[in-house]
Amino acid sequence: MRQIAVLTSGGDAPGMNAAIRAVVRSAHAQGWSSWGVEDGFQGLLDGGFRPLGVRDVGGIIQQGGTVLGSARCKAFTTEAGVRRGLEQLEAHEVDALVVIGGNGSQTGAHALHAAGFPVVGIASTIDNDLLGSDITIGVDTALNVGLESIDRLRTTASSLNRGFLVEVMGRNCGYLALMLGIAGGAEAIVIPEAEIEPEDVATLMQEAFARGKSHAFVVVAEGARNNAGVLAPYLRAKETVLGFDVRTTILGHVQRGGTPTAFDRLLATRLGVGAIWHLARERFGMLVGLRRNEVAGRSLEEIAGKTKPIDLRLLEMARDLAR
Ligand code: F6P
Repeated sequence: MRQIAVLTSGGDAPGMNAAIRAVVRSAHAQGWSSWGVEDGFQGLLDGGFRPLGVRDVGGIIQQGGTVLGSARCKAFTTEAGVRRGLEQLEAHEVDALVVIGGNGSQTGAHALHAAGFPVVGIASTIDNDLLGSDITIGVDTALNVGLESIDRLRTTASSLNRGFLVEVMGRNCGYLALMLGIAGGAEAIVIPEAEIEPEDVATLMQEAFARGKSHAFVVVAEGARNNAGVLAPYLRAKETVLGFDVRTTILGHVQRGGTPTAFDRLLATRLGVGAIWHLARERFGMLVGLRRNEVAGRSLEEIAGKTKPIDLRLLEMARDLAR
């Protein structure tokens, strides 16, 4: 191994830069040089390669987003796209590629590996839906940003005795909503894995006020069938009957931005170092993630295209605690 390349792909996640830094500096410690590929798989197809030395990754550990840029690249999902990617890797004399990203990105990584190219993935997505890692880069920051928003919204909700809907990211996975609902003390949590009908959400909110609460908070996953787009107009139309006003905040991309937490920087650093460890031992075709608090690899073939289920016992627990 003489030269590697690293790219970040899909939705950016706070901590990606810490992972890039760890990859480049660990590679350097092995005596390898690194290319950074700009804008994910799109940059791979377009030949967007730039040399990354140890000094080039200085001062980025605390930055959110990704200094390499990212993209969602449909072209790479085709056979022709994978072929073009392989040509670019060969033209730039790359011996192995590190792919930092979530589900779609690791499916792309697996396609390259299946075509015979040495690849290692690093588990990174705020959604925490990636099979093969208990937690992924960006989740902790997204949770903390969400939680700060919920705490702030709660003060205004309580002051005016209002019902409040907060919709959070997560694509088709309810992990962020579930964790935020628990940590934020929500009266109801609506997630795709356990849908609740609008009338039942309204009942849960009414019951919260009846128990003497000064607000009724609902955390909704964007991927739920009954997300804010459905629940907000339903509840607003029923305000008079319900006896309280309802307001809605959609956190959206706010949750994905900003400075990574200490946890995310440390996780990203450990996984970046772990990726180089795997390459050095020729353990290719692996996703490097965290399992039982240890850095561990899992075959990309096993995880590609699959998603990690959430623990629904936590939802039951949240219901019991929302009294
Ligand atoms: O996968 C990460 C994520 O932030 C999801 O939670 C969200 O649904 C999606 O990306 C948004 O994607 P985009 O930034 O392309 O709109």
